[in-house]
Amino acid sequence: MLGREDDHIIGNRMREYLLNTLPEDAGILKTIRDKANQEGNPLLMEETARFLEILVKLKKPERILEAGTAIGYSSILMCQALEGRVHIDTVELDFDVASMANQNVKEAGLSDCIHVIVGDTIDVFSNLQGTYDMIFMDAAKSMYLEVLPHCTRLLNDEGLLVSDNVLFKGMILEPERKKHRTIIRNMREYLDSLCNEGTYSTSLIPIGDGVAVSIKNIKENR
Ligand SMILES: C[S@@+](CC[C@H](N)C(=O)[O-])C[C@H]1O[C@@H](n2cnc3c(N)ncnc32)[C@H](O)[C@@H]1O
Repeated sequence: MLGREDDHIIGNRMREYLLNTLPEDAGILKTIRDKANQEGNPLLMEETARFLEILVKLKKPERILEAGTAIGYSSILMCQALEGRVHIDTVELDFDVASMANQNVKEAGLSDCIHVIVGDTIDVFSNLQGTYDMIFMDAAKSMYLEVLPHCTRLLNDEGLLVSDNVLFKGMILEPERKKHRTIIRNMREYLDSLCNEGTYSTSLIPIGDGVAVSIKNIKENR
């Protein structure tokens, strides 16, 4: 039953199996998740968190750019998975939420690795000059399409672009749906660009809320 906002895209029974089988958050990640659940702060679904850990361990990026810090869970997760051998710039729109992220990063002892930038992803990405080995897109779904050219400029060749929430609780199947119509259409266009324009090689993974894993192709192969 896809497309209902309260359903998981792989079905509730399968999700339960995954969660019962995968290791749970531990240490500060568990503390942050428990607090976020109590206070209603959004963060990465737990099965997606385990997937992201594997991706960063495989890619071993030295520089990561993240859109959507929230309270710092995913930045801390990526930094811990890489045993601190990474620099992460992460962008959060909401000043108070960014302050909570900074507090969590400090408590995790990772202030040297994680730099929280307060601002809108489009503005911040437009003004960044350095390049990155990996970008993790996890801010408002409505802006993924607009920010894609900046991601392409900021990513190194063979850099990894990981985009969360791309199947939008199954609503990606319903482009004519009245509620969220613009977000759904933008997301379909975003996925079409990632999959079919030749700039990226992409796989779509129906885990959590849907994850697109894309590698930026080397220029001569585009
Ligand atoms: C799904 S949460 C991010 C979860 C986080 N990556 C984690 O797993 O710990 C999305 C966050 O993006 C922020 N956000 C929304 N629109 C944004 C924008 N245009 N630029 C930067 N952050 C934005 C929201 O305030 C929210 O904290």
